[in-house]
Amino acid sequence: MLIPVLLLGLAGNGLAKIYEDVSDLPSLEYDFVIVGGGAAGNVVANRLTENPNFSVLVLEAGVSNEGVIDAIVPFFVNNLLSGPNIYEWNYTTTLQVGLNNRSIPYPRAHILGGCTSHNGMVYTRGSAEDYNRWAAVTFDPGWSWDNLLPYFFKNEKWTPPADNHDTRGEFNPAVHSTHGINFVSLSGSRWPIFENQVIQTTRELPEEFPFNLDYNSGEPLGVGWFQSTIGGGKRSSSATSYLAPKFIQRQNLHVLLHAQVSRLVGPQTTKGVVTFEGVEFLQGTYGSLFTAKATKEIILSAGPIGTPPILMNSGIGDKNALTTLGISSVLDLPSVGQNATDQPMVFAEWSVKSTQTIDPIEQNATLFNEAYAQWNATHTGPFTNVPVTHIAWTRLDADSPIFENVTDPSAGPKTPHIEIFLGTGSGTGAPTGNFMSFGMIVLTPTSRGSITLQSNNPFDPPLIDPGLLVTDFDLFTTRESIKKAYRFVEAPVWKDYIIAPTIDLLNMTTDELDEFIRNTGSSSGHIVSTAAMSAKDASYGVVNPDLLVKGASGLSIIDASIIPFVPSAHTQAATYVVAERGGGLG
Ligand SMILES: Cc1cc2nc3c(=O)[nH]c(=O)nc-3n(C[C@H](O)[C@H](O)[C@H](O)COP(=O)(O)OP(=O)(O)OC[C@H]3O[C@@H](n4cnc5c(N)ncnc54)[C@H](O)[C@@H]3O)c2cc1C
Ligand SMILES: *[C@@H]1O[C@H](CO)[C@@H](O)[C@H](O)[C@H]1NC(C)=O
Ligand SMILES: *[C@@H]1O[C@H](CO)[C@@H](O)[C@H](O)[C@H]1NC(C)=O
Ligand SMILES: *[C@@H]1O[C@H](CO)[C@@H](O)[C@H](O)[C@H]1NC(C)=O
Ligand SMILES: *[C@@H]1O[C@H](CO)[C@@H](O)[C@H](O)[C@H]1NC(C)=O
Ligand SMILES: *[C@@H]1O[C@H](CO)[C@@H](O)[C@H](O)[C@H]1NC(C)=O
Ligand SMILES: *[C@@H]1O[C@H](CO)[C@@H](O)[C@H](O)[C@H]1NC(C)=O
Ligand SMILES: *[C@@H]1O[C@H](CO)[C@@H](O)[C@H](O)[C@H]1NC(C)=O
Ligand SMILES: *[C@@H]1O[C@H](CO)[C@@H](O)[C@H](O)[C@H]1NC(C)=O
Repeated sequence: MLIPVLLLGLAGNGLAKIYEDVSDLPSLEYDFVIVGGGAAGNVVANRLTENPNFSVLVLEAGVSNEGVIDAIVPFFVNNLLSGPNIYEWNYTTTLQVGLNNRSIPYPRAHILGGCTSHNGMVYTRGSAEDYNRWAAVTFDPGWSWDNLLPYFFKNEKWTPPADNHDTRGEFNPAVHSTHGINFVSLSGSRWPIFENQVIQTTRELPEEFPFNLDYNSGEPLGVGWFQSTIGGGKRSSSATSYLAPKFIQRQNLHVLLHAQVSRLVGPQTTKGVVTFEGVEFLQGTYGSLFTAKATKEIILSAGPIGTPPILMNSGIGDKNALTTLGISSVLDLPSVGQNATDQPMVFAEWSVKSTQTIDPIEQNATLFNEAYAQWNATHTGPFTNVPVTHIAWTRLDADSPIFENVTDPSAGPKTPHIEIFLGTGSGTGAPTGNFMSFGMIVLTPTSRGSITLQSNNPFDPPLIDPGLLVTDFDLFTTRESIKKAYRFVEAPVWKDYIIAPTIDLLNMTTDELDEFIRNTGSSSGHIVSTAAMSAKDASYGVVNPDLLVKGASGLSIIDASIIPFVPSAHTQAATYVVAERGGGLG
């Protein structure tokens, strides 16, 4: 892989406080030790070190993000997600009954920035109702939409798109912030013909697919322009933003890479409350274990897959399950690793007459190299984005038969059940032809899965069961999402644009369609709730609304694991807001 020299030049003194080797680390005792430098961990590290009196160490298992071209050029995201690579944990799921017993790849980033260094960069917050439900179930009004909005604004730095086009009418400035830390922008490359198709559909089918000026307003229903965590034509991750040179230069902030935490050490129980001295980790190629001490607090930010195993390997989890594995119980919290919630995803594709799609660039090396050279020279052009132009957010019909059997799992009537993201080009890398592809996501799944241990060896990967498409509701809603996608393209404007679907999903019987869904369905990467927040006196849950672990002191969890209900959205914005608020609690 080619690494442009100019990118390596970015390293400079910005790297000074990011250590690759434990023997270079000035200390192994800090006020705060943060486990995991992902979406949440880097936010917390940044905010805590605003106070020069606090010393903070971030322990990240993965590698550096510096100069990783696939994590910088937005269009290259699929290079990071198409199989095992050095930026990956290389996980697979347990056999998924809902997916015809397939075990599927389950991407999780093993690189500074965590999944914000390899995700699709889609910026979506979810509905106000989603967060109001968090507030309701935790009895903490601080988690409501209105009270979280200032934290969304601390996170977001709205910025012009790479092509500097006139963005009036494509978003609502009133619901965005230009003074946050992580870049968000509208797309920096245009697909005018396809974009007009979509906008015209909102005019032709205004009942089902109305135009929505800004789906990040708290009221997402409708079709709006695509917003991404991209600035200046480059990916904005928690590593490039919250650990930018001006922050990482702080004397009180140290980051150690290649440091995989195995467990919390030194448990002490006083009056029924557990405290830990620090964390144990394996570093680089040493093959021996080190301990980092935290005098004020240990913060677990290892993400929804990484955090539960650390808890369980430390004796925090279901007492019986841990005892069976030969791990002595320290804190009996049966909810650890349970209630895992992920959003299933399927795709539909059509061949189209327009040649204004990403396909020629994908199929023709000359055009590909031209686009790459343009990005390289000016950070403009088609590689400044993924080729998605809009997202449609929609609900199941109120009289849908599924509601005879299932209580509506959405957070309220202004919350979508279904997302359809609308993209130009083949999703499957067709060697010739022009295409468009839609991705359909069930935003409000009722299936639940789990993260459990397979052994008492903390370096064994956990058993990952996202519980995809287990329930009738999730299968039904996936079917409906496909029907909705086909209704979208029944708008007259598509008549002269579409040639044919690659696979005709509409003429399938329900059984055939279910087979298609189970054979091709996958994860959207939005797993949450594996160490969920609940009300202080709830009989379940792992952390209290202040994100401190129930029954412990000096130990908190700040990452996507604590999200009590998945928002009707992609989950990075929700995770950022958890971290922005959580970093100031406790
Ligand atoms: C393939 C994919 C695509 C996605 N696309 C989008 C998208 O387009 N838009 C969106 O909003 N969301 C997207 N998401 C979801 C979003 O990125 C995650 O919800 C978010 O990053 C979760 O943040 P986190 O801090 O909880 O965990 P992470 O970002 O995963 O960070 C956890 C960090 O902890 C480290 N770690 C784990 N275990 C240990 C350990 N034992 N010791 C030390 N370090 C450890 C990991 O290496 C990682 O860096 C996507 C996710 C995936 C997987
Ligand atoms: C840091 O500590 C000093 C000395 O104890 C104190 O005066 C100051 O207020 C502290 N700063 C912050 C931001 O807490
Ligand atoms: C993932 O797989 C790649 C390729 O085999 C490998 O280089 C990398 O080290 C693996 N990641 C981890 C965390 O083991
Ligand atoms: C999946 O596995 C389960 C348990 O082994 C089995 O009962 C079921 O029949 C399998 N389903 C399919 C579609 O093979
Ligand atoms: C899962 O979450 C629900 C609330 O949505 C709660 O009632 C239940 O107790 C939780 N289960 C576990 C094991 O935490
Ligand atoms: C690829 O694109 C270039 C530049 O437009 C063109 O000259 C060439 O004929 C194309 N190659 C193929 C195989 O279509
Ligand atoms: C990117 O730019 C650098 C320096 O200008 C050059 O050396 C490199 O070849 C370019 N790479 C591509 C893919 O254009
Ligand atoms: C509702 O449940 C009944 C009984 O199990 C079943 O026959 C019916 O198909 C279900 N309806 C839907 C829409 O799934
Ligand atoms: C779907 O269409 C194809 C080709 O037109 C046809 O062969 C097939 O029988 C149809 N399937 C159903 C279920 O109608």
